[in-house]
Amino acid sequence: MSTPLPADDPSAKIAIKAESLTKIYGAGNTEVVAMRDASMTVMAGEVVALLGPSGSGKSTFLTAVGLINPPTSGKIYIANQLIMDGPKALTNLRSFRRKHLGFVFQKSNLIPFLKAGENVQIACELNGLSSRQARIRALELLDYLGIKDRSQSYPSMLSGGQQQRVAVARALANRPSVILADEPTAALDSFRGRQVMELFTKVAHEQGTSVIVVTHDHRSLDVFDTLYEMEDGKLTQKAKEPLAVAH
Ligand SMILES: Nc1ncnc2c1ncn2[C@@H]1O[C@H](COP(=O)(O)OP(=O)(O)OP(=O)(O)O)[C@@H](O)[C@H]1O
Ligand SMILES: [Mg+2]
Repeated sequence: MSTPLPADDPSAKIAIKAESLTKIYGAGNTEVVAMRDASMTVMAGEVVALLGPSGSGKSTFLTAVGLINPPTSGKIYIANQLIMDGPKALTNLRSFRRKHLGFVFQKSNLIPFLKAGENVQIACELNGLSSRQARIRALELLDYLGIKDRSQSYPSMLSGGQQQRVAVARALANRPSVILADEPTAALDSFRGRQVMELFTKVAHEQGTSVIVVTHDHRSLDVFDTLYEMEDGKLTQKAKEPLAVAH
């Protein structure tokens, strides 16, 4: 059985605070207000689903809090530090991202000519581990995600669900305090999609990692702690529907 990996900083309570984020793309005739006054607070270990129709601003929000796409206005705090004040960065974003954030996308984006284990190992090496330490950590992560037996397989030999598990392992390489996932299960069937969502919950609850997942899959919403909906750039928290009781 795998042992949980220790969380980096279990004492941190608020992992991410987004305050009144607005994003305006373009100007004049081509201006698009993609996000208006969007606020969200995510606690350590909380798993959040971000729902909403196409074009409503979900990826804009996720890339803003992922420090990839700066907001036009508003504030972003991560790990108790003010990182973005409007479009102004208050720290070196590259190194902050590398230290604190992990990303998972719709497609696993694994390097095709590296084996699964090597894909994770290289991410560990990029985070400062020696190649021996990185190999050990990569196997630990693959074991933790239930896919160690495929560490010698190339991505093309893995199913979509297995590739996404490797992508989650890779996102965990730097022991991030926050994982941001943009439609990570869109290419999977509902069973495999659910397995990936359950992995996020496991990581969050066992390691204190916070997770925000953009998803269209309404069948797995019960695994999330909190639901938010984006509609026309406005973000609101939704009540979780109680589980149906079987009679
Ligand atoms: N780089 C950009 N330049 C101009 N407009 C953009 C840019 N990126 C996104 N938009 C616009 O901002 C709005 C929100 O886009 P966003 O990608 O955040 O939506 P989304 O909710 O992630 O949609 P989907 O579910 O289709 O991925 C859309 O109207 C989109 O056309
Ligand atoms: Mg999107």
